[in-house]
Amino acid sequence: MKILMVCLGNICRSPLAEGIMKTKLPENFKVDSAGTGNWHVGKLPDERSIDIAHKHGIDITDQRARQFKVEDFDTYDLIYVMDQSNYSDVLELVENEEHIAKVKMFLPNSEDVPDPYFGGIDGFQKVFDLLDEASNRIAEELINKQ
Ligand code: 4NP
Repeated sequence: MKILMVCLGNICRSPLAEGIMKTKLPENFKVDSAGTGNWHVGKLPDERSIDIAHKHGIDITDQRARQFKVEDFDTYDLIYVMDQSNYSDVLELVENEEHIAKVKMFLPNSEDVPDPYFGGIDGFQKVFDLLDEASNRIAEELINKQ
């Protein structure tokens, strides 16, 4: 099964979601991430995301930002977005009902993972904790579904 994590820039939240989910899923799952925007294409994750991940024993420095593309709807089985605005941006690109059904909010109850880009390191810790907690439930569901 292939799953894609999506945020705006693909440098703060979705690289963390990718790194965390990879630690919770077996090898037969492929986890990747992308951003709806193109400003940071080719760049490493934000240093604050690298630091927070590293603090929790996760290395995300192999990741490079890329932009979400319409072909991703066919490549991936599930597309997890970080907030409502990512959800609307991704939904604008769907071509059929099957694509729509693949798009899910990462947090329960359609809550947003807050964008930490313009804040301090505390925001990144908060994002890490939100993602880490939600990823346990998602990983369990995905493992049971396969
Ligand atoms: P991300 O955070 O969507 O979690 O990667 C952001 C990164 C960059 C920008 C906004 C959010 N930006 O405006 O450049």
